[in-house]
Amino acid sequence: MYAEELKTYYPLHYCPVDVDRRVLPLLFPELLLFVSPSPLCCSSWWGGVQMGPPDPILGVSEAFKRDTSPKKMNLGVGAYRDDHGKPFVLDCVRKAEALIASKQLDKEYLAIGGLGDFTKSCAQLALGADSEVLKSGRNITVQTISGTGSLCIGANFLSRFHSASRDVYLPKPSWGNHTPIFRDAGMQLKAYRYYDPSTCGFDFNGALDDISKMPEKSVIMLHACAHNPTGVDPKPEQWKEIADLVKKRDLLVFFDMAYQGFASGDIDRDAWAVRHFIEQGHKIVLSQSFAKNMGLYGERVGGFTVVCNDAEEAKRVESQLKILIRPMYSNPPMNGARIAATILNTPDLYKIWLEEVHGMANRIIKMREQLAANLKNEGSTLDWQHVIDQIGMFCFTGLKPEQVERLTKEFSVYMTKDGRISMAGVTSSNVGYLAHGIHAVTK
Ligand SMILES: Cc1ncc(COP(=O)(O)O)c(C=O)c1O
Ligand SMILES: *[C@@H]1O[C@H](CO)[C@@H](O)[C@H](O)[C@H]1NC(C)=O
Repeated sequence: MYAEELKTYYPLHYCPVDVDRRVLPLLFPELLLFVSPSPLCCSSWWGGVQMGPPDPILGVSEAFKRDTSPKKMNLGVGAYRDDHGKPFVLDCVRKAEALIASKQLDKEYLAIGGLGDFTKSCAQLALGADSEVLKSGRNITVQTISGTGSLCIGANFLSRFHSASRDVYLPKPSWGNHTPIFRDAGMQLKAYRYYDPSTCGFDFNGALDDISKMPEKSVIMLHACAHNPTGVDPKPEQWKEIADLVKKRDLLVFFDMAYQGFASGDIDRDAWAVRHFIEQGHKIVLSQSFAKNMGLYGERVGGFTVVCNDAEEAKRVESQLKILIRPMYSNPPMNGARIAATILNTPDLYKIWLEEVHGMANRIIKMREQLAANLKNEGSTLDWQHVIDQIGMFCFTGLKPEQVERLTKEFSVYMTKDGRISMAGVTSSNVGYLAHGIHAVTK
C-alpha cells in the first residue's frame, strides 16, 4: 500500500523528506534508473569518508594470490600448515565434533559470559588445575570471540574501571592489533624496549630499564609465550626478575596468551610465566585464544580472565564484564566453545590434543633447524642461530625491507616488511628453496 502511494504521489526525481531515500530502490527497483543521477535526491552520506590503508598482513596474502610462480610461498599469515602446506584440522577436533553432533544438542543462547564448561576449563588450562586462585574462587573467566575479542573486552574493562592509569605499555614491537584495540578503548599507548635487532634476541636490560621508569599503576602488556612478531621470549630467570620489578613498580599485568602449547609443545611449560606471576601475588588479567593451539581459527574461541583479590570482588567484576558484553554482542557463539570444552573435558580427547599440540610445535622447531642448516649449506657465513633460538609460529629473520622486497620480487616469497616469517608455512619440500632465496638476498 505504502509503496503504491509513493509511486502515485511522488514524481520519480523527487524524494519526500519523510521517506528514507535509501529504501526507495528497495521499494521499486526501476527507480534506480532515474534516482541515482539526481543531485537533489542523492547527496551522499559518506562523501567525506577517506580510503583507509589496507591491512598489512592481508595485503601480503592478496599479492601472493596474484603471483603465478609455482614456487611461491606465503609466509605472512600466522596459521599453521602441515608438512604438505595444507590447513590442518586436529584429529581431536574432528572427534569432538562427531561427539557433539551425536548428542543432538539444542541451539539456545549461551549465557552472557559463555559456556560454563568451557570457561571453567579455559581458566584451568592457563592457571593450572590446582591453582590456589581457582580453589579460593577469586577468578572470573568469560568466553570471548577468540583472542582479539578477549583483548577488546579487557581493554574496555580497563578503560572503564582502571581509573588509576590510562597508560598501557606494549613491548616494542608487539602484535599489530594491540595498538588499535587499546587505542579504540580510550587507553594511552606507550612502549617498552623488548627486541634487540643487534642480537635478534631479547633486550633484557632495555626492558628492565624501561619498566623501572613506568609510572606506578600503569598497565604492562606481556606476551605469555611465543612473542609475536619476534619469536623472542624471556627465559625463566629473566621472567622472575621482570615479575619482581613489575611488583616494585605496582604495575597491572595484562598477559596475552595466544600460543599456549605452541611455543615448546608443552602447555604447562608455556604457561610458566603466567603461573609464576600469579604465585608472586600479581593480580593479572589474561587473554587466551584457542585459534592456534586447537586450530580453531575461524571458530573464534577465547577467554578473558581476571584474577581478583577475593571471591566477593570476583562477583563484582563478573557483573561488570556482563554489562560490558551485553550491548556488544549479547552472548558469544557456542560451536567453537563446545568443541574446546569437549576436548578439555574428555580425557581421551585431551590426551590426543596434547600429542597434536606437541606435534605442531615440533614440526615448527624442526623447520627452524632445517632452515638454519640449509642456509649454512647454501654457503651463508651469517649467524642464523636466532632462527633456531626463537620460539613459536614466527621468526624475526632480521631481513631488511630492501631484502624482503627482493625476496618477494625475485623468489615469490611473501612476508611482512619487518622481515617476519611464519614458520608454519615452511615445509620439508620448500625449506631448501627458502634458504636459497634468503641467502641470495643477504650475501
Ligand atoms: C599476540 C596475539 N594475540 C592475540 C591474537 C589473537 O588472535 P585470534 O583473535 O585469532 O585469537 C594473536 C593472533 O595472531 C596474536 O598473535
Ligand atoms: C573459577 O574457577 C572455578 C574452577 O575452575 C570455576 O568452577 C568457577 O566457575 C570460576 N569462577 C568464575 C566466576 O568464573
